[in-house]
Amino acid sequence: MAKIQFLLNNRSINAELPSGTTVLDFVRYNQHLVGTKIGCREGDCGACTVLVGEIRDDRLFYQSMTSCLMPLGNAHGKHIVTVEGLNMENLTPVQQAIVDEGGTQCGFCTVGFVVSLSGFTLSQKEHNYENAIAAIDGNICRCTGYKSLERAAAIITKQLAEKDTENSVEWLVEKGFIPDYFLTIKERLEALQSSVIEPSGEGQRVFMGGGTDLFVQRPEEMADSPLYHVFGQPSLTGIEEHKGYCYIGAASTAEDIQASPVMQAIFPNLRAHMKLVSSTPIRNMGTLAGNIVNASPIGDLTAFFLALDSSIVLNHFGQQREIKLRDFYLGYKKLDKATAENVETIYFKIPDKNSYFNFEKVCKRTHLDIASVNSACLVKVEKGVVKEAHLSAGGVAPIPKYLAKSSAALVGKKISPELLKEVELILQEEVAPISDARGTSDYKRLLLRQLFYAHFLTFFPKEIQLAELV
Ligand SMILES: Cc1cc2nc3c(=O)[nH]c(=O)nc-3n(C[C@H](O)[C@H](O)[C@H](O)COP(=O)(O)OP(=O)(O)OC[C@H]3O[C@@H](n4cnc5c(N)ncnc54)[C@H](O)[C@@H]3O)c2cc1C
Ligand code: FES
Ligand code: FES
Repeated sequence: MAKIQFLLNNRSINAELPSGTTVLDFVRYNQHLVGTKIGCREGDCGACTVLVGEIRDDRLFYQSMTSCLMPLGNAHGKHIVTVEGLNMENLTPVQQAIVDEGGTQCGFCTVGFVVSLSGFTLSQKEHNYENAIAAIDGNICRCTGYKSLERAAAIITKQLAEKDTENSVEWLVEKGFIPDYFLTIKERLEALQSSVIEPSGEGQRVFMGGGTDLFVQRPEEMADSPLYHVFGQPSLTGIEEHKGYCYIGAASTAEDIQASPVMQAIFPNLRAHMKLVSSTPIRNMGTLAGNIVNASPIGDLTAFFLALDSSIVLNHFGQQREIKLRDFYLGYKKLDKATAENVETIYFKIPDKNSYFNFEKVCKRTHLDIASVNSACLVKVEKGVVKEAHLSAGGVAPIPKYLAKSSAALVGKKISPELLKEVELILQEEVAPISDARGTSDYKRLLLRQLFYAHFLTFFPKEIQLAELV
């Protein structure tokens, strides 16, 4: 049991509970707030979406998260908003737009859409149509065909054009988007003790990031496991540049990475790259360390940071050590890491002006899908000659693969279609994809070739023509 304090809608929760109980089960079965629906319990459908509020930079900051994968321990010190916490006597403009546009039929998904779009109204991101649609990219509706929901999103976007961004909460309350108790939330959150929850329960402690992997892989075990909640810990978050290197707190989420001005300055296409990773609520939860440690052979962030030739800093009861990310994977889900060792920081040398970076991913759906094959590439080129190269790929080996031989084969050579064709042969020798639900082995080899060429077609559109590679 752990002492957990948070705000649930307009009420304070102060209870001793297993910190690995999901927020979904807590709100439905303990609090009897049954508006939040259970669909897949795997983060896929968005029916269980809640808003999670906290204070950042002295302002209220809300993000959508899937409550089926969110442990109560991660709610500690926060404001959790279910649809009951948004409902008022009259429909909110979000609810009204969905009704007016016929955006609800069976209604099972509707709560999730209402919560996600309400999150968009509270968000500090620009209120444009693209961001409104992105806000619901984690919500699935099997009835409406989405067009009506897209129209509702467009109406809401238009209404938000008038929003007073300096006094966002006040404006949203005045216009009926959220109930007036939101005006008291900042003060009430400040009064909450949001200290780190001590691990409770018997046995080996489990590091709990966003829970988006643990609650899919081992859902039954979590409530009784001694969890060490690293999610949101100030010492494990933050993204900084220092003396030519970029340091990322291991508990930074994919969204933190996408929103980071430091990362945006290094990677001009960052937003497009990160959009390929899961969906908005999962990006709001899933951490970089979780992606690295779950060792999925198709982890997107892992492939991204492998190609930056990143290092990771690990901590074992106060004892720090560093290791190259490319040396971290010893075999399928086998890591160079003690169970009690946690990942603290990921860092990489910031590519210079002669460097090019790209990330590619092929999957069956645009959002909420894991890769069949992904790949990232960093090359440094001076006067047409490759000075440094780092290639990675996922889905083609039992581990997230740093392609050492192919990378080395590029160095010292002049960029040309011939070189790429030569290196592609080495690339194929370095991988051993298996046939599975994501494609046959041959198909994955073909994808890898295409993604490898895609990097260079993106980097050097004048020097390399597609026709020369086939
Ligand atoms: C619907 C859905 C879609 C997804 N889509 C994608 C996708 O498109 N691309 C992709 O790459 N992944 C995807 N994932 C997988 C997952 O979201 C990511 O891998 C995410 O980064 C995992 O992070 P987490 O913090 O949630 O991990 P958790 O579940 O909290 O933890 C995962 C593992 O890491 C360990 N761990 C966490 N933090 C630390 C730490 N600081 N030190 C040591 N160990 C630690 C945990 O103990 C656990 O073993 C998806 C998941 C879901 C549910
Ligand atoms: S129940 Fe489907 S995302 Fe949570
Ligand atoms: S209205 Fe039925 S699933 Fe969306």
